[in-house]
Amino acid sequence: MSTTKFYVTTPIYYVNDKPHIGHAYTTILADVLARYHRLLGHPTFFLTGTDEHGLKVQQAAEKAGITPQEQADNTVVRFRDLWEKLEITNDHFIRTTDDYHKKVVQDILQDLFDRDEIYKAEYDGWYDVTSETFVTEKDLPEGQKPEDLPNVTRIKETNYFFRMSKYQDWLIQHINDNPEFIQPDFRRNETLGFLRQPLNDLCISRPKNRLNWGIDLPFDRDFVCYVWFDALINYISGIGYQQDDKTFRKWWPADYHLIGKDILTTHTVYWPTMLKAADIPLPRTVFAHGWWLSGKTKMSKSLGNVVNPMDMIDRYGVDPFRYFLIAEMSLGQDASFTEEAFVRRYNSDLANDLGNLLSRLTNMITRYCDAKIPNVSKNVLKDDAEKELWDAVQTAVEKMEASVERMRLDLGIADVLNAIRGINRYLEMKQPWTQAREEDKAPLHTTLYCAAEALRVMAALLYPVMPGKMTALREALGLSAGEPDTERLRKWGLIKAGAAANKPAALFPRIEDAIETESKTMTDENAEKKTSDKPTAAPAEKKPEGVALISFEDFMMMDLRTGKILEAGKIEGADKLLRLQVMIGSEKRQVVAGIAQHYDADQLIGKTVVVVANLKPATIRGVESHGMLLAASKGESLRLVTIDGEISSGAKVK
Ligand code: ME8
Ligand code: MG
Repeated sequence: MSTTKFYVTTPIYYVNDKPHIGHAYTTILADVLARYHRLLGHPTFFLTGTDEHGLKVQQAAEKAGITPQEQADNTVVRFRDLWEKLEITNDHFIRTTDDYHKKVVQDILQDLFDRDEIYKAEYDGWYDVTSETFVTEKDLPEGQKPEDLPNVTRIKETNYFFRMSKYQDWLIQHINDNPEFIQPDFRRNETLGFLRQPLNDLCISRPKNRLNWGIDLPFDRDFVCYVWFDALINYISGIGYQQDDKTFRKWWPADYHLIGKDILTTHTVYWPTMLKAADIPLPRTVFAHGWWLSGKTKMSKSLGNVVNPMDMIDRYGVDPFRYFLIAEMSLGQDASFTEEAFVRRYNSDLANDLGNLLSRLTNMITRYCDAKIPNVSKNVLKDDAEKELWDAVQTAVEKMEASVERMRLDLGIADVLNAIRGINRYLEMKQPWTQAREEDKAPLHTTLYCAAEALRVMAALLYPVMPGKMTALREALGLSAGEPDTERLRKWGLIKAGAAANKPAALFPRIEDAIETESKTMTDENAEKKTSDKPTAAPAEKKPEGVALISFEDFMMMDLRTGKILEAGKIEGADKLLRLQVMIGSEKRQVVAGIAQHYDADQLIGKTVVVVANLKPATIRGVESHGMLLAASKGESLRLVTIDGEISSGAKVK
């Protein structure tokens, strides 16, 4: 990747209401991109802010019985607080009521007016009072007449117009010549479709007797500037245009204007023609993402289904929320937000794959290596398994870089998660809990160190998405809290032997566990068992006789889990036994089962069975067994308890 600069923006949000999940999404997306580019060593500038003028804000203020400025001042705090909570690293926060912005807008207006790009004329036509725009029949839904719509009225007034129409052909040409200008491709077609109709000039003023909350036109104080003409200019006023030329030239043109699909026309028709008239280069890419829906329906205040980001953060934490939004939306498409989908993804990706890996690793380093990162030989990457592990890590780094370029962070994250599962498989293959019993500790140390190194790089790749949690992860591996950098993604051996590792509190406690806690207090000891590196013994020797009654607590001591049989084979010299490899969540277990006379090995592969997961490990005919399968038997027959329908392995059976 080149080391070119990166300038990314979000829309500036209206201050008529508090922020919701859609605002949070675009801002988190910009933040994650900014953080990735910083990680890759690119000088980066990230701008966000608020759009404070216009009818919407004036109306909200009237309703609240305060001035528009008070309305803006009150609401901007809510945006700023949310961005702080969400760990947003914007380099500047622009408010359109800031003096420097107002001055830039007025200078541009004056310049365009002086050069006859703006003219005065009488407008006689239809006006939509809710969207504050002039409408022609072609803007209306099929078959609708303006006079039928309650929010559309006929007005006749004098206004100022920007000669947008004269740039129509130039704009079409620019869009066709620069396919990266509007992304994704289908949005480009949408704009080109819009441009097949004749383009009107843009009314850029509002008479003060109708709306006075705006920037004065410098050449006619009876008018204020139309809110969109004012707002779009934030992208250049926010980086020093006409104030600090060096800074402006360093960052402009923007690499990405991130927007939602609702504001495509303003960004791909108004804005480029405004820039052209002012003789300023165009942004490289306007990227319109899709919509977050509530389930399958649009979020709207009237439906009362708007997700409040503050609630989600309070319930599940900042990083999981950021993670879900970025991992779940394939950029450009709409995505559905449900709490159920959130919990599912949290549990499988974060609690199971990533959280378990860290906790089993730090558990073992604590137990077997005195909580110190073990020493390993310089040549460890010569061995097949270790080389393969590190190659997979490097592939994930490459794929993430490519996904950032392609704006497919969801795919990049999926690759990282795959690599994390690979580290889990590496541990299962190496069985450090078995290596720990050997005299020679070198193989154990190699396994633990290599897994830790691989995890370090994965944490760096996930850092832009989950900065807080990944910092905690780094500290658990004895690394300093500082931000990872690009060179370190490629370098082997940065975890220092002898550094103090620590067992963090569960990084991502399973959400169902958290819910369970309310009915049944779970001790730390219990919590640890669930994520321990190998199956632990049943907590107490209890031998219920006959049909002795047991308490609910006794029952809950059994950790019954679904497991998927991956491999099955005979055991030499034991004609009743089969050796099974069973996947329980992300963990592969060897289980010896006395079922050879009832099942052929091949017949078992792919079955989802029920495993007693916390049974004390045993060695049966020289083969280790970590768990037991449930089966029903009567007389000669025996049948395994299997699962009716689809559920992932590792699910709790209760
Ligand atoms: O339009 N899903 O501000 P705004 C995804 N001030 N993103 C969503 C969303 C949803 N359901 N709802 C909102 C304005 N967004 C103008 C912008 S820019 C010069 C001026 C996000 O407060 C998305 O980014 O209505 C959308 O474009 C933006 O919020 C609109 O915010
Ligand atoms: Mg809006």
